[in-house]
Amino acid sequence: MNIEWDVEAASKGGYEHFMLKEIHEQPRGIKETLTKRLDENGRIKLDDIHLTKEDIENISKVYIIACGTAYHAGLVGRYAIEKLVKIPVEVDIASEFRYRDPFVDENTLVIIVSQSGETLDTLAALREAKKKGARILSITNVLGSSIARESDDVFYTWAGPEIAVASTKAYTTQLVSFYMIALDMALKTGRIDDAEYKRMIEEIKLTSGKIQHIIDQDSKIVEIAEEIKEKHNGFFIGRGLDYNTAMEGSLKMKEVSYMHTEAFAAGELKHGTIALIEDGTPVIGIASQEKLFEKSVSNMKEVKARGAFVIAIAQEGNTEVEKVADRVFYIPKVDDILASILTVIPLQLMAYHVSVMRGCDVDKPKNLAKSVTVE
Ligand code: G6P
Repeated sequence: MNIEWDVEAASKGGYEHFMLKEIHEQPRGIKETLTKRLDENGRIKLDDIHLTKEDIENISKVYIIACGTAYHAGLVGRYAIEKLVKIPVEVDIASEFRYRDPFVDENTLVIIVSQSGETLDTLAALREAKKKGARILSITNVLGSSIARESDDVFYTWAGPEIAVASTKAYTTQLVSFYMIALDMALKTGRIDDAEYKRMIEEIKLTSGKIQHIIDQDSKIVEIAEEIKEKHNGFFIGRGLDYNTAMEGSLKMKEVSYMHTEAFAAGELKHGTIALIEDGTPVIGIASQEKLFEKSVSNMKEVKARGAFVIAIAQEGNTEVEKVADRVFYIPKVDDILASILTVIPLQLMAYHVSVMRGCDVDKPKNLAKSVTVE
């Protein structure tokens, strides 16, 4: 496989910042990651992954290991693999995994996620897992990177060069990679039928246009950013997959705007964190999961009652949320399992705009590096 990056792709191309450009490149990145791996019958063909039906049946456990944003992609990956392939999955931060003496053996599949393919802790975790006999599958954006070279199987994301320190398009293409790997494994082992497999591929295809639709409503996010730009603290809350998105949204806000935010599992708030809610504290509540919608709305009510300024992210049509939230941003209708590809987009844009409004160095936040090759 040959992934070519040209000069145009690595320049700002008229955008004020790389981060904004890369947010806008997501519809294309997702489309390419998916469609370039579909054969003429629309089926997933993973040239660099050689997992047979027997290999998959012998896997007793999957470990996903990564750092930063890639770790958050891994959390979504866990959900996709457990739900579709029905194999238990653990997700770990690379710097924790490598010193924990984890239970890994030759029946463990270790999935390493790294945009750069060079993060030292992630590479060290890969070597540790390999030493214990695990099979290593990596998801990376850089052809021939150290992680790619040392893995048994590689899935390249087609995000193109990511220059801004805060990761955006690499993250969404990592999510698509996980869905494709999970769908392939699920079909090979007969855990989903052909009709559901095809339907999901079509649904993933549609996310590209849906992301564009969200990006086109950027002016709404600018208004929300205006309202929270002076705040010192904020919270991101959600349940299930929305909790994972909350973690990524909070990280984006901290990285590029230096606003202190934390992510919490919405149901866990009442066990302590709710004590921190004051009049006007921004709480971004993500409620994209249909089956958890009412529970999520009731958690928003809890913080609203303590004075929070509630910004909700929900699927179109779920207007109930307007009774609780001060502001609502709707994402297009989508399967619950794929919602994470969409819910993160308004959060990336929000972090970007707050950062610009606060006069921060968006593309090169202080104290951070794009690729951390030291311990
Ligand atoms: C650094 C970057 C993060 C990134 C993390 C992992 O800390 O600032 O944006 O998520 O490394 O990078 P990787 O290249 O391994 O995905």
